[in-house]
Amino acid sequence: MNRLLIEHTEGLYGRVSIQGAKNSALPILTATLLCDDVCVIENCPNLSDVDVTLDILSSLGAKVFKDRNNVTIDSSRANRHRISKSMMAKMRASILFLGAVASKMGEVELCLPGGCKLGPRPIDWHIEALSKMGLNVSCNCNGKLYCKVEEKFNGAEINLPLPSVGATENIILAAVLAKGKTIINNAAREPEICDLCDFLSKCGAKITGAGENQIEIVGVNKLCGTKHKVIPDRIVATTFLAATAMVGGNVKLENIVSEHIKIIIDILRQIGCTVNATFNTVQILSDKKLKAQGEVITEPYPGFPTDAQALFMAISTVSKGISVFVENIFKNRYKHVDELLKLGANIKALDRIAVVTGVKELRGNCLNAKDLRGAAALVIAAMTAKGSSILTGAEYLDRGYENFESNFKKLGAKIKRI
Ligand code: UD1
Repeated sequence: MNRLLIEHTEGLYGRVSIQGAKNSALPILTATLLCDDVCVIENCPNLSDVDVTLDILSSLGAKVFKDRNNVTIDSSRANRHRISKSMMAKMRASILFLGAVASKMGEVELCLPGGCKLGPRPIDWHIEALSKMGLNVSCNCNGKLYCKVEEKFNGAEINLPLPSVGATENIILAAVLAKGKTIINNAAREPEICDLCDFLSKCGAKITGAGENQIEIVGVNKLCGTKHKVIPDRIVATTFLAATAMVGGNVKLENIVSEHIKIIIDILRQIGCTVNATFNTVQILSDKKLKAQGEVITEPYPGFPTDAQALFMAISTVSKGISVFVENIFKNRYKHVDELLKLGANIKALDRIAVVTGVKELRGNCLNAKDLRGAAALVIAAMTAKGSSILTGAEYLDRGYENFESNFKKLGAKIKRI
């Protein structure tokens, strides 16, 4: 059942409550491994990537109990250090276990992570930073890594070449129980980094500067358990906004932090949508008469997110005028382009640049999703297209969206899994 039938949808209307953020839940769940007591993580989205993280925690010896969106984890007796190749291969975020397991067990054995194919996704900055903190990599061959830490990680000053989200998180996970102080220069500033630091601070970690480009962590001897609610998912929120902008209608998002999607709201207003935002709701009204977006350049937070690039490219296919996309974060994140062309879009893409000239209408076709956000972009484009479309690769959606079809159906979308 990994195909979706998507029919032309006249408009989206109603309210939708936004799920917890995948990119917060994954590092926070990983971080529970470092705690000596029980942690309760609330608002944890029901996603296949979350299940993989929980499976890894269980395989390391943690006790895991999931009740809908609440997960209880007791890692006090976790004592294993090996993660199977099949689990590592399921998602990129599994690499966060490198810092966490090495910190807790003093050694770790794992394979290179899998995940959406957005071009090469090396982990050299993770390894370099953790090595500076005392990680000894004794085997890094055939996709396998075996590493040891003498007693404890040591605090260090790390200068990241770019503000990598995953590398920042891995360093934080290694640093909270390290000997001495760690400074991360050029740290990622995403809200999900702040959420991870909020969680760890509640557990007793000493962290300052989360959300800024320099984070300072003073290692403590032990972390206790806590209860923590995951922040709302800004990319899921962006997906509903992009869909409404493109398909037309009037949709109110609830349980979000509008500040996290400020740049998205600004662009939606510029292209002709009405957007009313309060602290934790956003309402969008669209009559589908959209203007081109000009230049859209993906950047680290608070810039335009790479995870929203495909969604906004979908919008630009039917917006009046020319939009130019520059993908600065990932080298190969235009896999949705060929599929949008099948719907009748006018896109010229070369290397990191894509030029989109809006067309009058799209027409349904058979589409193939190749990554999570690309899949969502194809769905919203297919909803706008005349006729019906069939999308294969719909399993990608389950990695990041809870109840994808039913949430869209409630708003009036004609979409079903076949
Ligand atoms: C995270 C998000 C992903 C988002 C991305 C950028 C999670 C689970 N995933 O991915 O949704 O699209 O941030 O906002 O939170 N790089 C290296 N060497 C490294 C690490 C990164 O060259 O050791 C490069 C990457 O190839 C990429 C860039 O740095 O070109 C940014 O990657 P990074 O911020 O690390 O992304 P992820 O943490 O993988």
